Amino acid sequence: MCGIVAYIGKKRAAPVLLDGLKKLEYRGYDCAGVALLFDGKLEVFKRQGRVEALEPARTLAGNAGIGHTRWATHGAPSERNAHPHRYGRICLVHNGIIENADALRRECLARGERFSSDTDSEVAAHLIDGLYQEENDLLRAVRRACGRLSGSYAFAVLCEGREEVVCARMRSPLIVAKGEDGAFAASDIGAVAAPGRQGCVLEDGEFARLTREGAEVFDAHLHPVRRTFFSLGDEEALPGKGEYPHFMRKEIAEAPSAIEKTLFEAEKHINSQLCEVLCQTEYLDIVACGTAYHSGLCFQYAAERIAHIRTEVFSASEYRDLQPVAMPHTLTIAVSQSGETADTLAAAQAAKARGCRVLAVTNVARSSLERAADFVLPTRAGREVAVAATKSFQAQLAALYVLCTQLAKGRNLPAPSLAGLAVLAAETLARSAAVEAWVPLFCEARSVFFLGRGADRCAALEGSLKLKEISYLPSEGYAAGELKHGTLALVDGRTPVVAVVCDEALADRTMNAVHEVYARGAPVFLVTPFEALARAREVTACALIPRCDPAFSPMLSVIPLQLLAYHVALACGNDPDKPRNLAKSVTVE
Ligand code: G6P
Repeated sequence: MCGIVAYIGKKRAAPVLLDGLKKLEYRGYDCAGVALLFDGKLEVFKRQGRVEALEPARTLAGNAGIGHTRWATHGAPSERNAHPHRYGRICLVHNGIIENADALRRECLARGERFSSDTDSEVAAHLIDGLYQEENDLLRAVRRACGRLSGSYAFAVLCEGREEVVCARMRSPLIVAKGEDGAFAASDIGAVAAPGRQGCVLEDGEFARLTREGAEVFDAHLHPVRRTFFSLGDEEALPGKGEYPHFMRKEIAEAPSAIEKTLFEAEKHINSQLCEVLCQTEYLDIVACGTAYHSGLCFQYAAERIAHIRTEVFSASEYRDLQPVAMPHTLTIAVSQSGETADTLAAAQAAKARGCRVLAVTNVARSSLERAADFVLPTRAGREVAVAATKSFQAQLAALYVLCTQLAKGRNLPAPSLAGLAVLAAETLARSAAVEAWVPLFCEARSVFFLGRGADRCAALEGSLKLKEISYLPSEGYAAGELKHGTLALVDGRTPVVAVVCDEALADRTMNAVHEVYARGAPVFLVTPFEALARAREVTACALIPRCDPAFSPMLSVIPLQLLAYHVALACGNDPDKPRNLAKSVTVE
């Protein structure tokens, strides 16, 4: 979490840092800060809140600087805990968690050093300052300090009197870039991408030194590493909102194109080597978090039904602790929009250590997950900026459904066609505008339930997550059949229930749950392709969506649910793009 940006070069650094931080804000927006080096002296400017609070720093002088946008882990979100952290001659920004910070801090305190924040990060500034006094070389001091740290970090470090920025990486993403105008480092390519610039991804244990002349990469022993820099064209830059008021609304509208592009791309990526592995595969394990976990659940349903293959879905954060029994011929599929989610990455690595092949389904090329996996199925959703995942969910489904049909083919089983899903998604979008009228009853709700059976349950879970993330309403997704085993006790007239009913074979049974909640006074909202159900007496309002194979229906049924969450968030006065306490890329465990 947290976004880092660093620059040294011909331009004034402050605007470069501020513009870069704005593009990294999806990684955290609790507080922000920059440090500029001017005439050998350091100036630090920090604020609680969003990056826009740093605007007064735009005029600061200096051609070198570091910046940070924070998602608080250690220490409350406050100006005091905002980065950069300064100690002595050293100033640094950090993304990650230093696990042995308490012990190191005690050492520093015993030496009489004083701390000016509650963060784990500040201890690194203390260590580096002490070692710099011995080494008189910033790179060597940073390297020695890193040798004492456990946990994860991406650092960018400035030192008073030195025209350079030193960076280090361990289990937190960091890219280094260079161009005619100078050298850069950032948590994400998008923050510094521009035509004419080139970049490379720092590996764990590596260091970089940025100077006006360019960027050098070093290994753990500080031997120079020859890196091929790739071009950072416009296509890597983070997009704007276009005609839309929010990124989330724009990204919901982009689902059809995300589906179309991903279906096309995924088919190209199923090469003969992957086909061979798929043919040998007897078990599938999915590891993922959040929305990607729900994609995994949707895939499980399709894979079991269509490809007749035993599939298990794990919360990535639980996978390592559970240590599931390793079955032979298991393919582990790690699903992650960002490809940087620490828990998903750790689970993929654990699966590899257990001898499983790992297939990554990710939206970000050159991400840590992509580089750790044996195979990659890219999703082509385009950059997703809003914290709540929308189009990336459908893109993940598109890639996973392609995989499912391929698995079926390898087993000589028939599989429904995926053609036309993008068009149906566009139709669903057009028909879903009606959900805006549902909003008043949700704004007054005490809590909300989303119900479904089979694949509809998976869509219900995702719909509930969307609503809870951005409206802050207590909300649960539930298997319709489970409702009466406890949850029904919570249902009353102030508990809207959204039922997803896209599988005709299951419709009557899901409608039983609808009758039950209706009988307790709950207003019922339906997402279904079946007109007859929409006319049922119990239904307060309905989003009538197009029909498709029930195994693939979450790709469509989620659209009205995403839009519902968006409109409820707006009505509650929330920023749907940046929900409180959350961040898009969770790079700490
Ligand atoms: C965070 C985001 C979610 C996302 C999850 C997994 O919690 O707020 O929207 O689904 O991380 O992210 P990933 O990048 O691994 O798909």
